[in-house]
Amino acid sequence: MSTQALNHITLTRPDDWHLHVRDGEALRTVVPHTAAQFGRAIIMPNLKPPVTTAAQALAYAGRIRAAVPVGMAFEPLMTLYLTDKLPADEIARAKDAGVVAVKLYPAGATTNSDAGVTDIRKTYKTLEAMQKAGMPLLVHGEVTSPEIDLFDREAVFIEQQLQPLRKDFPELRIVMEHITTKEAAQYVAESDQYLGATLTAHHLLYNRNAIFTGGIRPHYYCLPVLKREVHRQALVAAATGGNARFFLGTDSAPHPAHLKEHATGCAGCYTAHAAIEMYAEVFDAAGALDQFEAFASFNGPAFYGLPRNSGTITLKRESWTPPESFAFGEAELKPLRSGEALPWKLVG
Ligand code: NCD
Ligand code: ZN
Repeated sequence: MSTQALNHITLTRPDDWHLHVRDGEALRTVVPHTAAQFGRAIIMPNLKPPVTTAAQALAYAGRIRAAVPVGMAFEPLMTLYLTDKLPADEIARAKDAGVVAVKLYPAGATTNSDAGVTDIRKTYKTLEAMQKAGMPLLVHGEVTSPEIDLFDREAVFIEQQLQPLRKDFPELRIVMEHITTKEAAQYVAESDQYLGATLTAHHLLYNRNAIFTGGIRPHYYCLPVLKREVHRQALVAAATGGNARFFLGTDSAPHPAHLKEHATGCAGCYTAHAAIEMYAEVFDAAGALDQFEAFASFNGPAFYGLPRNSGTITLKRESWTPPESFAFGEAELKPLRSGEALPWKLVG
């Protein structure tokens, strides 16, 4: 990576290790945003109905590829959605089809998770097949019990679910997705090579005050929800601290604006339009631009056992302002930081 006078950053083309692109018309809006910055992205399977077979994943990959603008090279990395009933033998078919991972959503934890796992023990045969095949498990790490406070759900998940799971499957590679707490950062840092974690730009930039500044701000609402400043600081320390098991995953999650600006607004922040610029802002503010390329471009491929991308992207220190909204099928999509200046701009 080069950082000439710290006004330009050129880095190996990065990847997004956690992304929602939805389906149908929505792909035309969001896939070009991601493809402009990232070489590959792990595509989350929480469609309605979810992606639960290798054949569905292949078909979905085809629809995503068809939305990549001519002249851009972008590779969707596909995942399956773990249910209580995902048969163990689907793992071999998935591996043959190039599926890279399986996603665990505790039932009811977040957007489109109704088909998720009700009891992790019901999936043990499938997890065994994954451990054997070297297929990583990607985890939405929150318990869903209503008696657990919303802000504690990640920390409790580690104790109640993740620790026993890792004891039972010590060589299953697991990624804790979009971690939001100092407890998660610490747990991952102290674990072994089988556990990694992704960090979103919004959890690195904002604490929970962002949701309530001057009134309720639904575009800052996502799951796991933004936490206190002490947690944000721990996440920045993890991202910039040089541990190769932390890597970039935006969790960019587009929703029609009218369903976020709603009495029961849905969870998800849209960041794909400016993701790499937002991460650059985080690393710059932390005085850690020297760690940026490892986090964005090297650590993810290393964990997944994939080659790094060839080619580079360049960011320039230049203020620009994302638009108020994008067309999103028949609806509108409001991106994070819409109408608010960003200090870094992707220029090549
Ligand atoms: C995601 C979505 O909208 O699909 N929402 C979110 O708040 N992050 C689901 C998820 O990753 O939890
Ligand atoms: Zn997600």
